Amino acid sequence: MYIENIENGIILTVDSTRETLQIGEIIGRTAEQGTIIALNGDLGAGKTVLVKGIAKGLEIEEEPNSPTFVILQTYSGKHPLYHFDFYRLSSAGELDDLNFEDFFYGQGVTVVEWAERISEVFPDYSIKIDIEIPDESKIDGPVQSRIITIKGEEKWLLSFRNTVEQALQT
Ligand SMILES: Nc1ncnc2c1ncn2[C@@H]1O[C@H](COP(=O)(O)OP(=O)(O)OP(=O)(O)O)[C@@H](O)[C@H]1O
Ligand SMILES: [Mg+2]
Repeated sequence: MYIENIENGIILTVDSTRETLQIGEIIGRTAEQGTIIALNGDLGAGKTVLVKGIAKGLEIEEEPNSPTFVILQTYSGKHPLYHFDFYRLSSAGELDDLNFEDFFYGQGVTVVEWAERISEVFPDYSIKIDIEIPDESKIDGPVQSRIITIKGEEKWLLSFRNTVEQALQT
């Protein structure tokens, strides 16, 4: 894994599914009540893999997945996890029926796949994560590496960065 610090964020280059899970787990461990995570990345980038890690970090027993046509799944753990997948969402209007504010501003941790579909609903303090598959994959077939760009508020970033660095040393 390779770490690069950027303004208001961090770029992690991971080499395997396991490392993405590990990063997710640290995000879950450092998340607090009310944490909102806006997750973006192409099909198969590894968004749901990251969510599985987040769930583990929140001490959730079940493993999240992304069944078609299910927009929200709730899991209970250290904090409740609200896992949204907006892939099939075409407008913010559809969200009104969901009362998403009850989740965003509730007692749990919210993570949203395909957040870009309705980027306007995310408060400024949301953690923003983009997962990118490096270009070589288009030539050599599937590669295991991913570029994960994470932006968030200073306070959370500090503890996240420290925890990642500690995990890498052990
Ligand atoms: N470094 C990596 N990190 C995450 N996933 C990886 C990595 N390398 C390979 N993969 C594989 O890529 C796939 C990612 O699938 P995943 O369902 O998490 O993608 P997704 O971004 O949620 O896609 P979708 O938009 O369809 O929901 C998995 O099969 C995973 O094993
Ligand atoms: Mg997914």
